[in-house]
Amino acid sequence: MLFHSDITSEPLLKVVEILNKAMTRNLVDWNAMNIATVNSIGQPSSRMVLLKKIDERGFVFYSNFNSKKGKEIDSNNSVALNFWWRELKEQIRIEGQIGKLSSEESDEYFNSRPLQSRVAAIVSKQSEKIESYDKLNDEIRKLTSEFENKNEDPVRPEHCGLYLISPKSIEIWKEGDFRTHFREKFIKKDDNAWESYFLSP
Ligand SMILES: Cc1cc2nc3c(=O)[nH]c(=O)nc-3n(C[C@H](O)[C@H](O)[C@H](O)COP(=O)(O)O)c2cc1C
Repeated sequence: MLFHSDITSEPLLKVVEILNKAMTRNLVDWNAMNIATVNSIGQPSSRMVLLKKIDERGFVFYSNFNSKKGKEIDSNNSVALNFWWRELKEQIRIEGQIGKLSSEESDEYFNSRPLQSRVAAIVSKQSEKIESYDKLNDEIRKLTSEFENKNEDPVRPEHCGLYLISPKSIEIWKEGDFRTHFREKFIKKDDNAWESYFLSP
């Protein structure tokens, strides 16, 4: 599911190698990443999300398009990602532009989720103030059993779907002894070729 075989560029191959290592070692939430967005007055904010897919285009996660992050992305499509695994002593930093994936790809992902997750996505107005969690959970339970009773599948609401981050720069960081860390930075040039260099720790 996660790693697409169309990946050929060096930095993405290196990222996949590290993610594969984290996955095969069964690290808890090995695909968790931090994403930072910036609002219209330049205030950054960040939160964790789960990487769902990586292919030659970039990094994909699922979210609510009307959430705080969604609104910030609407006004500024520059974002930063960060992965870190204590056990691997490795960090990956990515900067790039974010956009929505096609409705077909979002539908495919949405339809693969358990019914209750799909219903929760329909009901939850992510990042908005709520009166009570009891009320929200009741609503989710009620709507879930309605779909179950009718034996019907919910349709993906337009406010939920997949985002794609197209990377402009990728840094691979490996912890070394006594701060002798290794840092390799890749930058995507105008002709879409990647150039790389090493950075002082
Ligand atoms: C490990 C972890 C994984 C998460 N994965 C997602 C995710 O894939 N998509 C998502 O919308 N929120 C995810 N969340 C919740 C977000 O961190 C955040 O609370 C939510 O997206 C609302 O953020 P916003 O108000 O800045 O838009 C995750 C939280 C944690 C701790």
